[in-house]
Amino acid sequence: MDSHLHDTLNFDALITALPEPVLLVARDGRVWSANQAAVELLGAQIRGAQIRAHLRQPEVAAMLDRALAGSENATASFVTSSASAETVWQVTARPMGADTLVLSLHDISHREAAEAQRREFVANVSHELRSPLTVLAGFIETLQGSAAQDPAARQEFLSIMAREAERMTGLVSDLLSLSRVEGAEKIRPRTPVAIDMVLRATLAALRPQIESAGIEVTLTLPEDLPEVPGDYDQLVQVYHNLLENALKYGANGGRIKIAASTVPAVPGFEGPVLRIDVTDYGEGIDPIHIPRLTERFYRVDRARSRDQGGTGLGLAIVKHILNRHRGRLCIRSAPGEGATFSTLLPTG
Ligand SMILES: Nc1ncnc2c1ncn2[C@@H]1O[C@H](COP(=O)(O)OP(=O)(O)O)[C@@H](O)[C@H]1O
Ligand SMILES: [Mg+2]
Repeated sequence: MDSHLHDTLNFDALITALPEPVLLVARDGRVWSANQAAVELLGAQIRGAQIRAHLRQPEVAAMLDRALAGSENATASFVTSSASAETVWQVTARPMGADTLVLSLHDISHREAAEAQRREFVANVSHELRSPLTVLAGFIETLQGSAAQDPAARQEFLSIMAREAERMTGLVSDLLSLSRVEGAEKIRPRTPVAIDMVLRATLAALRPQIESAGIEVTLTLPEDLPEVPGDYDQLVQVYHNLLENALKYGANGGRIKIAASTVPAVPGFEGPVLRIDVTDYGEGIDPIHIPRLTERFYRVDRARSRDQGGTGLGLAIVKHILNRHRGRLCIRSAPGEGATFSTLLPTG
């Protein structure tokens, strides 16, 4: 008796120290011990109660039967919900001696959410790749059949096919950029970068698009522009994506302004912050879309983005690059009033 009591006290002390819910259950299903985390989850009345009356989900009941029948490592998932969220628990039952099961609950909600996100991402990518492939396959068939002897149609179809192939190339290269940036997001780049060089390089690369859109782009740089610790190529990508969007979606405003400034203090930043605004005077964005623009594949107008060769990944890449630089993206816009995309970068 004494030694049993001694064991019990030790077990209680041990399981109380564990952060996740743990219960000791007798063969008849009665809970003879529950740690603090289990009491918080299931209520104090769980002690001494019938476990099946509290974990009332068929999967858990079946798992308990298996465990009591001698299964060494039975698991099941168990879902609890509160007003604000649902929690998914993985319940594991392991025998301890002949008469007791140790039930432990492990919160796997984050894993479930990450898996759901991954599935959605794969579905999106597949969908995005499928549409150009469908177009290509259709034209290949046409060229093999009815259009084989029609040089004019062939020229037209080949140029559509080239555009679709280009779209796929763009998508694949955006996906690669995204995965590269996400992979390195924890590693902050430290090389001093002169942002005026970055902006001039971006403008030079987009010069053909600027000229063909007939848009005037002005660049305003203060004299004493500080360098920022960063990754030159990634920063070029940030302003390339922002300027490209301004050209694609804000072209009817006729002009684009890029302006750099130093802000002495911004909440959430230590020390001065380098701010770059990319402003267009186009049709602007409805506020309901603004919080979602940096989500992968989110576009206000899907067909329009597609027509422009967009992938819906540009701003997601911008956000991840800025995160890696411990920076931030702010978007201000109203319908009919153009849009300003501002990047904030720490200077130290
Ligand atoms: N300057 C802008 N003016 C209006 N809408 C914009 C602007 N920049 C981005 N958007 C909207 O945000 C969406 C997402 O942008 P992005 O991630 O770069 O994808 P993409 O350009 O490939 O569609 C665009 O499809 C567009 O609807
Ligand atoms: Mg874009």
